[in-house]
Amino acid sequence: MVRVYLDWNATTPPLRDVIDAMSAAARDDWGNPASTHTFGRIARGRVEQARAAVARLARCDARDVVLTSGGTEANNLALRSAFARQAGTLITSRLEHPSVTRVAEALEREGRAHVRWIRVRPEGTLDLEDLARACAGSDARLVAVQAVNSETGVVQPIAEVLALTTRARVRLHVDAVQAFGRMDDVAEGA
Ligand SMILES: Cc1ncc(COP(=O)(O)O)c(C=O)c1O
Repeated sequence: MVRVYLDWNATTPPLRDVIDAMSAAARDDWGNPASTHTFGRIARGRVEQARAAVARLARCDARDVVLTSGGTEANNLALRSAFARQAGTLITSRLEHPSVTRVAEALEREGRAHVRWIRVRPEGTLDLEDLARACAGSDARLVAVQAVNSETGVVQPIAEVLALTTRARVRLHVDAVQAFGRMDDVAEGA
C-alpha cells in the first residue's frame, strides 16, 4: 500500500541537515546548558547558536528570543502573561488555533479576561472594522491574531492589524507558526 502524507501544515519530515544537527548535539553536546562546567558551557553555546539563528530569521535581537517547546507553549505564555497582573479584554477570533481559543476561554472562566470575539469575513479574513471597534474599548489589553490559518491557509493582513493596534495602543500577539520561515513579509510586518 502506498501511503500519502497530506498534513504538511501540522508537520513536515525534518531536513537531513536538521537530523544531522540534532543527532550531533545529542551525541556530542549533551551537557545541561545551566551547568557551569565545560560540558554545560558547550551545550549553552549550542542553545545560544540556535537563538541567534532564530533572531536572524525574525530580524530581531537574540536577547528578545524566548525558546519554547513549540507553538502551544508560546501562545500560552504570551496570553497568560498579558493577563497575569491585571484583568482586561482579550480580542481574538474563532479562527485561531485551539492553543489560543482554549486559553482565551480558560482566562475568561478564571475571571482574568473578558474575550471579545472578532467577526470573520466570508473569505476567512478578520473583519478589520470590527477589530477597530473592539480596540477602541477602554479595557482592550491584547489582540491575538494568527498570521496564517493552519487548516485553510488564509493569510491575515498582519501589517494592517499592526497599524490598527499601534494606533489604538493595544498590544498585539501574532501566532506566526504557519508563516515563520515561509513568508518574509509577515515577519517584517509583525
Ligand atoms: C497556527 C498554529 N498555532 C499553534 C500551533 C501549535 O503548535 P505546536 O504543535 O508546536 O504546539 C499550530 C500547530 O500546527 C498552528 O498551526
